[in-house]
Amino acid sequence: MSWPRYPFLFFVLGLLLFPGSSLQNSSPRSTTSQPKIILDNDWNPTAFIAFLLPLYYNYTVLGLASDTANSWALQTGLHALASLEIASLSSCIPVYKGSDYPLLQTAHTFQTYEFLHGELPWKGVFAKENTTNEKLGNDPTSGDPRRVVKEAFTTKGYYGYPNVSFAEGSAAEFMVKAVRENPGQVSIFSAGALTNVALAVRLDEDFAKNTAGLYIMGGYVDRFMEQAIGDVLRADLVSDINFIVDPEATKIALTADFPNITLVANSANGVIPNQAFLNELVAVNDNPLSRLVRANQPTYLPFWDETAAAVMVDRKAVVLDEVEVYVDVDTSYHSPFYGYIRPYQAALMPPGLRKVKYINAVNNTKVAEMIKTVVQFPPKGCADLHG
Ligand SMILES: *[C@@H]1O[C@H](CO)[C@@H](O)[C@H](O)[C@H]1NC(C)=O
Ligand SMILES: *[C@@H]1O[C@H](CO)[C@@H](O)[C@H](O)[C@H]1NC(C)=O
Ligand SMILES: *[C@@H]1O[C@H](CO)[C@@H](O)[C@H](O)[C@H]1NC(C)=O
Ligand SMILES: *[C@@H]1O[C@H](CO)[C@@H](O)[C@H](O)[C@H]1NC(C)=O
Ligand SMILES: *[C@@H]1O[C@H](CO)[C@@H](O)[C@H](O)[C@H]1NC(C)=O
Repeated sequence: MSWPRYPFLFFVLGLLLFPGSSLQNSSPRSTTSQPKIILDNDWNPTAFIAFLLPLYYNYTVLGLASDTANSWALQTGLHALASLEIASLSSCIPVYKGSDYPLLQTAHTFQTYEFLHGELPWKGVFAKENTTNEKLGNDPTSGDPRRVVKEAFTTKGYYGYPNVSFAEGSAAEFMVKAVRENPGQVSIFSAGALTNVALAVRLDEDFAKNTAGLYIMGGYVDRFMEQAIGDVLRADLVSDINFIVDPEATKIALTADFPNITLVANSANGVIPNQAFLNELVAVNDNPLSRLVRANQPTYLPFWDETAAAVMVDRKAVVLDEVEVYVDVDTSYHSPFYGYIRPYQAALMPPGLRKVKYINAVNNTKVAEMIKTVVQFPPKGCADLHG
C-alpha cells in the first residue's frame, strides 16, 4: 500500500474530494497509527476468523505464524496458506512455519504425565497417532511432525489443499525482524502454543519490550474443578492445551518484558455457534469464507481464538471485566499442574514474575456480532485492505 508515503498529496486530494469536510476527518491516518499485528496460531479450516477481525479493524497483518498445539506446525501452517488462498489474500499476507517441536515437551513426556496424573480430556498434538482417524480428515497427532495429512483439506467442504508456499525463514526469525523494523508498533497474537514467541524472546533481548503487547488465548485457572465434576464437554472447554503443549515456552513468554500481556482464558468459552448462526453467515452474504465456516465450524466448540481477537481489536466494546494479576507457570515436570498458570498477589508471589491483564468477562453478544460481520463482509482481496 503506497498512499501513506504521500500524506500531503492525500491531504490535498482529501480537500478536493471532500471540500466541505473538516480537516480532522478528511486527513488519512498515517502508517504509524495503523496498528500492526503478527498472528501465531495452530490454524485449522475455520481459524481464519481470527485474522479477519484485525483486518476488518484496519490492522496491518504483517504475517501469520504456525505453531504446534492441536497438530504439528507444518500442518497448521498449511491450513493458514489454504485459508489465505481461499480469501484471495496470499499475495499480501505471508505465512511462516513455526517450530516443529515444543521446547521440551514430547509425545513421550506428555503421555507419561497422563500415566502419572490422569488423562486430559483434550490432548491436542500429543494424542496417539491414529492413521484411521487421519484418513477421515483429522489433522495429524504424534508421530513424525513433518507428516502432512492432505485428507484434512480435501475432505472438507469449500476447502482445499494449498497451492501456495511458506515464506522463507522461521516464524521466530520473522517475528524478531518485523519488530526490529517497526519498534513499538507490532502486537503479537498467540492462540496456540507459545513456542515461537519464546524463541523470539530468546533470539533478541529487545524483542518483547519493542512489541506493542502480547495477546494470548489461554491461561485457565479453574480447570481441575471442571474435570472433577465429570462433565466431559465442560472439561474439554477448559483444557488448557495451548500452555500444556509447551509449558517452558509459556513461562518464558509470561515473564518477558512485553509492554503488556493480555490473557483471554475462561471468558472465551461463551460464544458457541448453532446451526442458525452458521446459516445466517451465508444467507446474509454468500462468499467463499462464509460458506467455508458454515461447512466446517463445529457447533459444540466456542469461538475461543476469535474471542481473544475481538478483545484485541475492540477492547472497550468487548471487555466487561478485567483484573491485573501476577502469574507463574508450573514448569516442574513431576507436577500434576505442569503447564498451568498460577495467579499471585504481589505480597505473596515468588520473585521474577510480572503483571498480566486477565480478562474475566466479555460481552458475548458483541463478540458474536463482530464474528458475523467479519465473515459476512471479508475483504475480497489484497486491494480491499485498509491497513
Ligand atoms: C477502516 O478504514 C476504512 C477506510 O478508512 C473506514 O471506512 C472504516 O470505518 C475503518 N474500519 C474500522 C472498523 O475502523
Ligand atoms: C482411531 O480413530 C478411529 C476413527 O476416529 C477410532 O474409531 C479409533 O477408536 C481410534 N483408535 C484409537 C486406538 O484411539
Ligand atoms: C489448489 O488448486 C486445486 C486445483 O485447482 C484446487 O482443487 C484447490 O481447491 C486449490 N486449493 C485452495 C486452497 O484453494
Ligand atoms: C500495551 O502497550 C502498548 C505499547 O506501550 C500500548 O500502545 C497499548 O495501548 C497497550 N495495550 C494495553 C491493552 O494496555
Ligand atoms: C453487549 O453488546 C450488545 C450488542 O452490541 C449491547 O447491546 C449491550 O448493551 C452490551 N452489553 C453490555 C453489558 O455492555
